[in-house]
Amino acid sequence: MRIGVLGSGGMADALGGRWVAAGHEVVIGGRSRERSEALAARIGAVAGSPEDAVAFGDAVLLAVPAAVAAQVLGHAPGRVVVDCTNSVVPGRFVLDEPRAAARLAAASGADVVKAFNLCHVDVWRRPSLVFEGRPLGVPLCGDSADALAVVRELARSIGCVPVDAGPLARAELLEATTAFAIGLWVGGADVRAMFPTDV
Ligand SMILES: NC(=O)c1ccc[n+]([C@@H]2O[C@H](COP(=O)([O-])OP(=O)(O)OC[C@H]3O[C@@H](n4cnc5c(N)ncnc54)[C@H](OP(=O)(O)O)[C@@H]3O)[C@@H](O)[C@H]2O)c1
Repeated sequence: MRIGVLGSGGMADALGGRWVAAGHEVVIGGRSRERSEALAARIGAVAGSPEDAVAFGDAVLLAVPAAVAAQVLGHAPGRVVVDCTNSVVPGRFVLDEPRAAARLAAASGADVVKAFNLCHVDVWRRPSLVFEGRPLGVPLCGDSADALAVVRELARSIGCVPVDAGPLARAELLEATTAFAIGLWVGGADVRAMFPTDV
């Protein structure tokens, strides 16, 4: 597949790198051409402008802070947009903006799929995405069947299992779950122990 990436930070690096390694063509379109070129050279992608990334291919990964996501994406009618942003307020672990993904879809006209937001960037950098003998599950929330099919394939291509998690209206639950888990984890709780498998 052909994937445009908005952003050249940690998530752009980790997911963009995995997709290149899986055989996809990736264009890095961060706001800084210099940083986009450096990242593209490191992971085997191509650098472009943010506009190039939005226009390129089958899907666009939006990997910028949630507060600027709609502005960075702009008008992108019909584009398949993978929204991995979390509008978590640092230190308070609440959401800055309710219904962020649905608002993003309404503002941009894009077919937004919330995905890849649940795990820390270091998880996406791991050599293997198999944990406790099982491939990592990736919950997806979206309204477009075609867009969901594209993002399911993006997840499968890096060894994950896509998990259909409902329409885009449920994306805020996915973000809230992330905020909740991060808050507990930062407080020292064993978050993994809350979901036993032997029941
Ligand atoms: N880090 C995680 O563990 C993690 C996990 C899941 C989801 N997420 C979400 O993924 C998104 C990206 O996180 P990250 O860890 O990749 O952050 P990051 O390493 O700080 O990278 C953020 C990227 O956004 C760009 N950016 C910042 N402000 C911008 C603006 N006003 N206009 C255009 N571009 C701007 C930055 O550009 P410059 O380099 O030019 O500053 C950088 O390329 C966030 O929404 C975050 O909530 C993060």
